[in-house]
Amino acid sequence: MNNIRKQVITARNLSKHFGQVQPVREVNFTVQTGEFITLLGPSGSGKSTLLGLIAGLEQPSEGSIHLQGREITGLNENELALFRRKHVGFVFQAFHLIPTLNSLENVAFPLYPVRMQEKERTERAMALLEKVGLKDRAAHLPARLSGGERQRVAIARALINEPSILFCDEPTGNLDSTSGGEILDLLLQLNQHRKLTIFMVTHDKEIAQLSHRSLYMHDGEVTAS
Ligand SMILES: Nc1ncnc2c1ncn2[C@@H]1O[C@H](COP(=O)(O)OP(=O)(O)OP(=O)(O)O)[C@@H](O)[C@H]1O
Ligand SMILES: [Mg+2]
Repeated sequence: MNNIRKQVITARNLSKHFGQVQPVREVNFTVQTGEFITLLGPSGSGKSTLLGLIAGLEQPSEGSIHLQGREITGLNENELALFRRKHVGFVFQAFHLIPTLNSLENVAFPLYPVRMQEKERTERAMALLEKVGLKDRAAHLPARLSGGERQRVAIARALINEPSILFCDEPTGNLDSTSGGEILDLLLQLNQHRKLTIFMVTHDKEIAQLSHRSLYMHDGEVTAS
């Protein structure tokens, strides 16, 4: 039986320098389609820097990254932006919602560069708000949402372009345990039902135990579990 699964992220000999600082040192790993991976490690060990590299937000100093079978190292800014828009979603600890837009507009925001009827944009954003349980908060500005609700809006926004990989940098780090648990349930559901690949930085060992596999980072180096 053919059980070879497709590699969705491949990092080879990845390094990043900022002058004398080298937060990522010759990192190698692969992630298969549909995996839920957690990346753990002490503060300052290079987790966010590594995430930025493999998500195509920053270029590495050395090494290569393949996402969805495509080498993204060497793509120019425009090519990278297009690639990210098509394949990648991001969720951050601090939510990064646009304060002057309501929930619906925040979720729809990544669709604005895409040629699409306003009606379709709104319908897609509303369907995702419903999926994250916030249909009745569509008209609320972020300031009128709880932390957990803001993060659910941010997850809906990250999913609007139907990415195949979701990168999360401590998505429950600013939330109390109840809201954090709801966010985790939502992510687990997306992973299990939609086979969405999730790569998550976290300090939370309980989340790590729920993931398929953990990677550990220490002084810029990655070891597998
Ligand atoms: N743009 C930059 N210029 C210079 N140094 C940087 C830059 N970005 C990160 N660093 C340094 O790289 C190291 C790793 O930072 P990074 O944010 O990746 O750590 P982290 O593991 O995500 O930590 P935390 O758990 O606190 O979020 C730190 O020493 C940081 O100061
Ligand atoms: Mg970090």
